[in-house]
Amino acid sequence: MPARVLDVGGGIGVHAEWLSADGYAVELLDPVPRHVQRAARLAGVSAPLGDARPLPVADASQDAVLLLGSLYHLPDRADRVRVLTEARRALRPGGVIAAATINRHAAVHDAIYLGHYRQERQREAARAAATNGITLSPGRGFPAYLYDPDGGAGEFADAGFPDVERYGLEGGFWLYGDIGDWLEDPERRALLLDAQRSPALAAQARRSVSPSARRGT
Ligand SMILES: C[S@@+](CC[C@H](N)C(=O)[O-])C[C@H]1O[C@@H](n2cnc3c(N)ncnc32)[C@H](O)[C@@H]1O
Repeated sequence: MPARVLDVGGGIGVHAEWLSADGYAVELLDPVPRHVQRAARLAGVSAPLGDARPLPVADASQDAVLLLGSLYHLPDRADRVRVLTEARRALRPGGVIAAATINRHAAVHDAIYLGHYRQERQREAARAAATNGITLSPGRGFPAYLYDPDGGAGEFADAGFPDVERYGLEGGFWLYGDIGDWLEDPERRALLLDAQRSPALAAQARRSVSPSARRGT
């Protein structure tokens, strides 16, 4: 029997598609109707509308739970711990949860990449997000929550996971394209160095976060 994978916050099925093609039994949940409509068209993927809080699945029914999106949009810690607690409940003993989080650097790097960092309001908003973790885009859907790299493991522990491992997946510099170009252009070089020297980033300048954990027996 194929392993059962629950793709929570799976969007339009970017991961569900290849997992299903590889032979896994994939169920995708997402709260956005247009996402699940598209995902449901993928071969072998069932895609009900749903939220990570709570998960509409039986205890210990999944071999793996993916949280590659649902932790991006929950500003309240209690909600994030609830998502993780639910994922743990859904996993069979020995099953694996893979969760991605967005690092606090992200808003500043995005602002630079998109050309907004020159505008004071956007720069301050990005820096505020680097400090408090919350970005709000009024009228543009969900808020985003950016993790303090040292905070994620504590949320997993509070949800009852005994063994959490953290992997850095992406640094910030991929956003800049050819970093050599940036460093040679005085104006862009100054922006880059300013961003790197901001106090919030200096304090955070350690790692990106992407915890995975195994449910104990
Ligand atoms: C950035 S997308 C990632 C989609 C997909 N996992 C991927 O990697 O391409 C974030 C997804 O999380 C979903 N989401 C937001 N809040 C959620 C919640 N409370 N529970 C489950 N999913 C949620 C969004 O609808 C969106 O599809």
